[in-house]
Amino acid sequence: MSQITFPRGREIVLGVGAGIAAYKSCDVLRRLQDHGFLVTVVPTPSSLNFVGKATWEALSGRKVNTDVWEDIPTVPHVSLGVKADLVLIAPATADLISRIAAGRADDLLTNTVLTTTAPILLIPAMHPQMWLNPATVANVETLKSRGIFVMEPAIGRLTGSDSGIGRFPESNEIIEKVLEVSQSRCDLLGKRVLITAGGTREAIDPVRYIGNRSTGKQGYALAFAAVKRGAIVDLIAANSAFPDIEGITTTHVESADEMNLLVQEKFPNSDALLMCAAVADAKPVLYSTDKIKKAKLSEIALQTNPDILSTAAKHRSASQVLLGFAAETNSDLVNYGKSKLNAKGVDFLYVNNVDNGAIFGSDLTSGYLLSNEGDVSQISEVSKDTLSNILLDKVSERLRYANV
Ligand code: C5P
Repeated sequence: MSQITFPRGREIVLGVGAGIAAYKSCDVLRRLQDHGFLVTVVPTPSSLNFVGKATWEALSGRKVNTDVWEDIPTVPHVSLGVKADLVLIAPATADLISRIAAGRADDLLTNTVLTTTAPILLIPAMHPQMWLNPATVANVETLKSRGIFVMEPAIGRLTGSDSGIGRFPESNEIIEKVLEVSQSRCDLLGKRVLITAGGTREAIDPVRYIGNRSTGKQGYALAFAAVKRGAIVDLIAANSAFPDIEGITTTHVESADEMNLLVQEKFPNSDALLMCAAVADAKPVLYSTDKIKKAKLSEIALQTNPDILSTAAKHRSASQVLLGFAAETNSDLVNYGKSKLNAKGVDFLYVNNVDNGAIFGSDLTSGYLLSNEGDVSQISEVSKDTLSNILLDKVSERLRYANV
């Protein structure tokens, strides 16, 4: 199976420097969680004078370390940075800024900064004398020239009696910047999206089954894209070899009947159903507990599987959105797709041409996206990640209208 690089989830490393604004970062952490981000806090050792480890562990629900000598087997100085979608440092002190500019690696946070390929966003907070000091000014310029994002501090009251530039910005301003820098969209925040992936297998006997070539790549890409946009994703995967992903509830099934049972159970609590799985059209009338002899294979009687999508569509409410997929080898994809969309009672249908083994298992896809309002968009050769976001744009827009 070829490896696909999925967009990762919503992992943020929240670095905390030793400034009094560290206490305000507790609120930033909460607001990040409100936006569906999963946050690992990495304080500098001296910042624990302001906010202790217990507070960060309680708020983040995750273990908190400050140096590289803890949890050695997990190689934390590399793994945190590699896993992150964004490294946010708030507050960033003059000392921390200078250590990052010098490329130092003397605690877990600076190691993480050196190993990450994710965007880095610094929220400096300090007294004006320190912020305007030529050393800090030069360090900030160095960081910016390396592509690190540095938010301008606010002007206002500081610790003590003074005021000026250097104040920690309000949480909502920081969150806005985080969304911009991480290119995270939150248009599906809190929406429950039920997705099916892979191909069902209908057991004939202990050895054989009726199946298809679907690998689950598109369904998993869709699940990743949805969770990245803030959705609560329930993934029902049929015979896919992809690993489960933190933040996505994944249930593994084998047959269409198992999938049907789960979809019908979960659909009433879902805002959208994206039926990406290739469901086997037929199953044996009887499962044979003994391996069927070759001579008897032609006698296997088949019956059609329940149509999972149409069944859900029959019980839908007006505020739910349904999207189906169709894999065809037919030349008149659009007209064929339109009749299928109407027959199934769905809002959208993505129909693609799988002639000559195309699409299945591939990183690329092309086809037509049809809507029940008659829109037809041609999609030519895009990655499955890109298609996922194109489909989710439509679902998200429809959900907005359906829920006003
Ligand atoms: O009828 P056809 O298999 O082409 O329809 C494809 C769409 O219907 C897909 O979204 C697929 O997941 C769904 N489907 C289903 N139950 C079936 C067959 C297909 O939900 N038994």
